[in-house]
Amino acid sequence: MRIDCLTLFPQMLQSVLEESIIGRAVKNEILDIRYTNIRDFAENKHNRIDDSPYGGGMGMVMQAEPIYRAFCEVTKDASAKPRVIYLSPQGRVFNQAIAKELSTEEHLVFLCGHYEGVDERVLEALEVEELSIGDYVLTGGEIAAMAVIDAVARLVPGVLPSEEAYSEESLYNGLLEYPQYTRPPVFMGKEVPEVLLSGHHEKIEKWRREQSILRTLKKRPELLLEAELTEAEYDWVESLMKEDNDGFN
Ligand code: ADE
Repeated sequence: MRIDCLTLFPQMLQSVLEESIIGRAVKNEILDIRYTNIRDFAENKHNRIDDSPYGGGMGMVMQAEPIYRAFCEVTKDASAKPRVIYLSPQGRVFNQAIAKELSTEEHLVFLCGHYEGVDERVLEALEVEELSIGDYVLTGGEIAAMAVIDAVARLVPGVLPSEEAYSEESLYNGLLEYPQYTRPPVFMGKEVPEVLLSGHHEKIEKWRREQSILRTLKKRPELLLEAELTEAEYDWVESLMKEDNDGFN
């Protein structure tokens, strides 16, 4: 997968995405992540890429032209127009399903905005898709882009060591992950659940599934509406909820 980042702070993204699992996938040429400084496409003496907003108001607006030129440069050899993601608190809220969908693309372009925003006309010209990483405002799109790129890139085949690594994890089937334990068997008097030491694979699977459902019910009950549960599991959840309600009476 190729990923282009259009940003005023390439170092910020690079320092994070060259580390750890994503960094290894870049070294192994599974991912081709490129960083383009929008400022390099300014065509004025002081390399300015922003100006005051028409109509007045506070702050500065990133100009359309340098962004457009940067985009044309990174796509000049592309056979098809890549999907362009603009990070913004006004966007669709990013989640695992969007990560999965984006992970099948061959080429993604991330546009990171700053200041009070970006000239609307370039967002229209590039037909951007706006994505938000949550209902709060960051100082720029870079941190959001890093979060989205990390979540998408790790789903690209070959980035994680095995498919198992992500097929069982949190939110993969719409459920939260079961609790994990490792050595030592006793920590501050707390023992590892006995079933995990039993070596009984089927019982362990059953316990993990139950724990996933229990955790989801306790921490993020709204996720159960979309989760893939069997009929028996739905009945179990219902009985747990009933018990809980009865507990209040
Ligand atoms: N830029 C500023 N805030 C953001 C957010 N919450 N998500 C994505 N991009 C942003």
